This record gives sequence, structure tokens and C-alpha cells, in this order.
Amino acid sequence: MAPHTEQLTRPAVRLRGLTRSFEGRTVLDGVDLDLPAGQFTALLGHSGSGKSTLLRAIAGIDHGVAGSGTLTAPERVSVVFQDSRLLPWRRILPNVLLGLDGKDAGERGRAALAEVGLGGRERAWPSELSGGEQQRAALARSLVREPELLLADEPFGALDALTRIKMHALLRQLWERHRPSVLLVTHDVDEAIVLADRVLVLEDGRIGLDLTVDRDGPDAHRAYRGRLLKALGVSEDAP
Ligand SMILES: Nc1ncnc2c1ncn2[C@@H]1O[C@H](COP(=O)(O)OP(=O)(O)OP(=O)(O)O)[C@@H](O)[C@H]1O
Ligand SMILES: [Mg+2]
Repeated sequence: MAPHTEQLTRPAVRLRGLTRSFEGRTVLDGVDLDLPAGQFTALLGHSGSGKSTLLRAIAGIDHGVAGSGTLTAPERVSVVFQDSRLLPWRRILPNVLLGLDGKDAGERGRAALAEVGLGGRERAWPSELSGGEQQRAALARSLVREPELLLADEPFGALDALTRIKMHALLRQLWERHRPSVLLVTHDVDEAIVLADRVLVLEDGRIGLDLTVDRDGPDAHRAYRGRLLKALGVSEDAP
């Protein structure tokens, strides 16, 4: 295989036998997973199934946690959480630029804020932004680092339904423009189908279902929804 072809097909993330346990209780039990470069993947699973544990392991922010396995991940990784984690004592632009240097950093920060629809709000304080705007700022903070891998742990979980829909469109647009690999943890089956090209279900410490999403088929959304809910042990007929 020619080197450049190899690079294109090389997975951005490669996990083999990833195991994590807390106080002797195994949460991840030998997870094998490849995330191809540029793919948008969603991760579903019951509360407590280990989604955040898996995301933290991939992000390399689980120091001190007992476990084993091998992980390959890109150098530039950004993480977005349910809350924006903006520093309340800094204005929006310095929050977005936190830890970045270089003389064009300010310009890049402004461009990232404009991309998420916050152009002109650079000098606002986090407390002056709505919840949705704060999450936009968090996305800008990720973007400005030009991540090869974007990890998002229920980034829209605290937003109202209308804002969520707008954020879905924004995230998909940003992904199309910048093409990082994305791993989006969500509780929401519909969010997963609308946004992702591949949906994983974490079950009993492993990837129980690995579904490729092709939205073009007739009634595709409904069919995927049924399969995913079934994998999650939820009946659509349930009251
Ligand atoms: N630092 C920790 N110490 C002890 N137990 C932990 C720790 N972190 C996670 N756990 C346990 O590991 C299990 C998986 O947690 P995790 O947060 O990964 O679940 P999750 O799938 O993200 O759940 P949710 O959907 O509710 O966010 C849970 O039972 C949790 O209590
Ligand atoms: Mg979680």
C-alpha cells in the first residue's frame, strides 16, 4: 500500500482489549474499536454502561484508573462536555484561546466564534451567554485547536429541544467543513441517527451493536430507531 493511501485509510482511533474497572467492578471489558479518520460516530448505551469512561480513556484523561489494553489516538484531540466548562472570570475570546499561543491565535479564535454564530460576542462574560451560546463557545474552543478527533460527551444534554435541533445542524456543518473524526456520546437515539454515519451501542462492557447509517433508504430513520431501541432493550410500544 502506498504511504499516502495507508494514511488515508488508517484509523484515527484504534482500541484493542480496553478494560477499565472501578473498585474491582469491570465497566469496560475488552473493547475493540477502530474509528476511521473523518467518520462521525455516535455512542449509545444505558446510563452507567461506561460511555463516559470509554470517552475519557480515548481522551487520555483517566489517569489513575485501573485498566489495560492498547490505545492509538491522534495528537490533537478536543473534548466537549455537557456543561461548557468556560472559566467564569474570563471573557469569551480568552476562554476560547485558553492555552493557545502564536500571534495568529486571536484571529483564529475570532474566526471560530464567527463560525459558531458568536461573532461580536468576544468580550462577553460566560454568564452573559445563554446555555446554547455557552455550548457554542465550547465548540469554538474545540475548533480553534483544529482537532483530528472531537470527543463529545452529551454536549446537548442540558439544552432545550429547539436549541438542540439548531446545535445538531451546527455540529454537522462544522464536521462537514473541518472533517475531524467525531465520537458523540448521547442518550438520544434520534440524535444519533440524525447526526452520525455510524452508531455504536455499548453493552455489558463491549460494543454490542455497530450500525452503519445510510439515511437515504425508505423509512430509514424509523428502521434504525427500531433496531437501536431493541438493542437498548426498549420497546417502542412501551407506554
Ligand atoms: N471515578 C469513578 N469511581 C468509581 N466508579 C466510577 C467512576 N467513574 C465511573 N464509575 C462507574 O462506572 C460506571 C460507568 O460510568 P460512566 O460514567 O462511564 O457511565 P455512562 O454510560 O457515561 O453513564 P451516563 O449515561 O449516566 O452518563 C458507573 O457504574 C459508574 O458509577
Ligand atoms: Mg456519561
